[in-house]
Amino acid sequence: MATTLLWRNFDAQAGDFCMSIEAMPLYVDIERIDNEIRELGRDEDGPLEPAELFPFDQIHYQGTDAVERAIRLLGLDTVSRVLEIGSGVGGPARYLAHTVGCRVTALELQDRLHAISARLTARCGLGDRVTHLRGDALTYPLPETAFDAVVSWLAIHHMPERPRVLARLARTLRPGGRIYIEDLSERAPFTASDLPDVTRTIFGVTLTSADEYVRDLRDAGFVDVAATDMTSDWQAFAVARARAWRDARDRHVRVHGQATYGRLERFFFTVAHLFESGSLGGLGLIGRT
Ligand SMILES: C[S@@+](CC[C@H](N)C(=O)[O-])C[C@H]1O[C@@H](n2cnc3c(N)ncnc32)[C@H](O)[C@@H]1O
Repeated sequence: MATTLLWRNFDAQAGDFCMSIEAMPLYVDIERIDNEIRELGRDEDGPLEPAELFPFDQIHYQGTDAVERAIRLLGLDTVSRVLEIGSGVGGPARYLAHTVGCRVTALELQDRLHAISARLTARCGLGDRVTHLRGDALTYPLPETAFDAVVSWLAIHHMPERPRVLARLARTLRPGGRIYIEDLSERAPFTASDLPDVTRTIFGVTLTSADEYVRDLRDAGFVDVAATDMTSDWQAFAVARARAWRDARDRHVRVHGQATYGRLERFFFTVAHLFESGSLGGLGLIGRT
């Protein structure tokens, strides 16, 4: 079966629209990071403590607990050379550099997110340990056998051609290097009424079963591949996140404005619904070269 189950070219469908990843609700209001920093009472470009940002710079499930999981499972230490794929505004990369002291190369597709991440990392004084690169995981010239570990949170489902991405990641790892991925999965077929939210709201380009994900990792050259089903914890997280957002509506409207509040409210409740439908799932995947 084809790996890419869900790929919609909205250009080709009358009455639809051509959506880019930048238009996804999670990214369109990325200035919310600056709003939160202002709310901390910090100025526009002064120094920051990495830990001040952790409550809002981790764009995945379970915040820094998820990064701690990778540290533990991969056995990262100060000498580890780590590549993060789809690094967002740099939250996990800064957490790794700050808590473990390892060197992190963080590759991010979107210009705006890349620019924010580089700026925040410099303000946190972590520029000597985190290198931010702007580029596409499908095409960026990754050096061969250069990293001890590859990590990725909630990014690969955005990418077409997952087998090609994973093969590139296997080549950039040294022999015996390890990979840890947290990503979305498809546990059961999405209903026709949920498909527009899968494609537009969460930009799910490649969503498959756990078995297909494991097979793609093995085909890419990884061994000792194992998948852990994270669905029930992520569902609980997604439901609590949506409720907490709505409960703090007045605060969020004051800090971010009505439009951003509304878009994120819809996003958070849509994600919670997709988990509750039984179709959206979450996976932790590990392997080595
Ligand atoms: C949900 S965010 C997660 C960000 C970060 N991993 C974190 O957990 O905070 C997924 C990120 O993957 C990036 N991304 C999507 N496709 C990509 C690609 N082809 N190459 C590099 N990054 C990509 C997106 O732009 C987005 O910033």
